[in-house]
Amino acid sequence: CQEEGLKKRIILLGMPGAGKGTHSAKMLARFCMCHLSTGDLLREEVRSGSDFGKRLKGIMDRGELIEDEVMCNLIKYQLAKPACANGAILDGFPRTIPQAQKLDEILKQSGQQIDQAIFMNVKEDTVIDRLGGRWTHLTSGRTYNYKFNPPKQYGKDDITGEELIQREDDKESTIRNRLRVYQSKTFPIVDYYRKRNILHEINAERQVDEIWREIKNIVKQK
Ligand code: AP5
Repeated sequence: CQEEGLKKRIILLGMPGAGKGTHSAKMLARFCMCHLSTGDLLREEVRSGSDFGKRLKGIMDRGELIEDEVMCNLIKYQLAKPACANGAILDGFPRTIPQAQKLDEILKQSGQQIDQAIFMNVKEDTVIDRLGGRWTHLTSGRTYNYKFNPPKQYGKDDITGEELIQREDDKESTIRNRLRVYQSKTFPIVDYYRKRNILHEINAERQVDEIWREIKNIVKQK
């Protein structure tokens, strides 16, 4: 990373496929913070083959949400790690109002707070198009898209050369359920942060470079 000392806790909010993972990777390369992607953490547990992982997989493959209590314990444990002392990018958490409230409580215990919530606003048709063509490098969470940002070599991660996979929940029927769940459970969070005056709404329909320029400027704000 290039810039230290920001010590911010930043939430990336938005529909599945809005570009949270894509821009988290850019933020991480630029700013010295930890990246907490709850989706990646859950998929890691699924890959471990544990009974708990098998239960998670069932829920995720249907596009439903994991219980708030499980998610809040997970994020509390992750935020306490030394890697997050210099700031954190929260990608995929919170996803419900109870999660947002619990996050405030967790941070308050160590004198911290959410500094910025960046809402990546995008249309449903756009994300259906994006997610259908997404390929992911499982261990790093890097994503590619054969339409918009293809890997240099077909089916291989640019950095490690390892295989790319398509996520189970990127099937069209599951995408539609994830979008329904997003609208009913997650979208209300946008207002929760707007009322706190820490919401930055950006148009995430544009090209990645343009979106990234705007996010970079928001993160650098005092
Ligand atoms: P999670 O992994 O968090 O998935 P998600 O929120 O649905 O988001 P995605 O990862 O699908 O999209 P993204 O916004 O990161 O987009 P990306 O950058 O990849 O969660 C998965 C599941 O885990 C949930 O369904 C739930 O079951 C469970 N879960 C996770 N957190 C939870 C929580 N807190 N509570 C309960 N359950 C939880 O981009 C998408 C594609 O588009 C890529 O191919 C990319 O290359 C391309 N792209 C990105 N930006 C652009 C652009 N500007 N132009 C063109 N292409 C673009």
